[in-house]
Amino acid sequence: MRTYLVTGGAGFIGSNYIHYIIGRYGDSIRVINVDSLTYAGNPENLADIEKRSNYTFVHADICDAEAMRKLFLENDINRVVHFAAESHVDRSIRNPDVFVKTNVLGTLNLLNAARAAWEQPDGSYPDDHKFLHVSTDEVYGSLSEPDTYFYETTKYDPHSPYSASKASSDFMVKAYMDTYGFPANITNCSNNYGPYQFPEKLIPLMINNALAGKPMPVYGDGLNIRDWLYVEDHCRGIDLVQEKGKLFETYNIGGHNERCNIDIVKTIISTLREILPDDDPRKAHISEDLITYVEDRKGHDRRYAIAPDKIKAETGWYPETAFEDGIRKTIRWYLENEAWMEHVTSGAYQQYYKEMYGA
Ligand code: NAD
Ligand code: TYD
Repeated sequence: MRTYLVTGGAGFIGSNYIHYIIGRYGDSIRVINVDSLTYAGNPENLADIEKRSNYTFVHADICDAEAMRKLFLENDINRVVHFAAESHVDRSIRNPDVFVKTNVLGTLNLLNAARAAWEQPDGSYPDDHKFLHVSTDEVYGSLSEPDTYFYETTKYDPHSPYSASKASSDFMVKAYMDTYGFPANITNCSNNYGPYQFPEKLIPLMINNALAGKPMPVYGDGLNIRDWLYVEDHCRGIDLVQEKGKLFETYNIGGHNERCNIDIVKTIISTLREILPDDDPRKAHISEDLITYVEDRKGHDRRYAIAPDKIKAETGWYPETAFEDGIRKTIRWYLENEAWMEHVTSGAYQQYYKEMYGA
């Protein structure tokens, strides 16, 4: 039976990925989720999975060398899918150190544990043992010319402490492949959206604020562009890269779905107005009057856009979810899971919000 070690599986994409592979492979695989449960990790995301006999949660930090060594020693792990990271640009601007610790040193630690468990005396690796490092398109920097895209060959040019830490971790994975023949892939994906995303990121923050009748804070002129991908499409892409991609290769994953921030915010407002029943009292206050332009993010990248040609050609992947459908599904999920939102926005979130956006 194949065993997956998923790091950061209690976060947004990690929990969607665990749902995806359990849905796809059922009881034919084992899944071990290692997560230190930072503010972004939430066991509630996996409440429907936690009692399954083929699922195990391990509460540990990827920076803990002994804990990672033990995990590999005690389990015959075939696949690593590495999501665990500090993931929010604004937090990285305020506190870069933890981004280097988790994203760079944590990744190095995990690579060391996997290599120690997998490398054979002659330097080769057993068949079907693979490490997938989940990274971001932000490592490529910002596109200034229209109709230009990030390819796997685009030079790295990170600007934020977050993207610099992810770039460093990508280089470390690449160094292990090049130096030790370590069996890995890197995926660089565009902005994800969907269920279980923490409301510090644009889409869930705007949904939550609109429902609460609070200002919807748009940075700068609102014309920065991101390439939005429904999270399940990302999860399928990761699985296809491990199953059909070529080892040692990098794959860009993105939806050719470029939208500027202000359009996203306006779509959220109009979709909420369309979905909410007329007798819902919140409907009256959800309008474009909530849009509030605020000070721009420092070093704000203008445009990201992925060319997913390679993953399409080599694995047959394509983004199945049109944005119009994905955003509806996402908004409906948040409306049906208001208790989830209440839990994640109580306590420390309030302090974060005050520091970030003021009263
Ligand atoms: P997230 O912040 O929602 O989740 C991160 C998870 O990692 C949390 O469960 C957290 O508890 C865990 N974690 C953090 N530090 C840890 C540590 N030291 N040890 C163990 N666990 C730790 O992040 P996400 O949005 O789900 O992103 C997952 C990965 O995908 C990240 O590597 C991110 O860089 C990458 N990525 C994200 C996006 C996006 O749009 N969200 C796009 C492309 C790539
Ligand atoms: P975010 O979701 O933080 O993702 P990333 O910075 O990794 O792309 O932000 C997406 C875009 O939305 C980005 O251009 C910054 C902008 N933004 C706002 O305008 N207001 C907000 O409150 C947030 C969180 C983001």
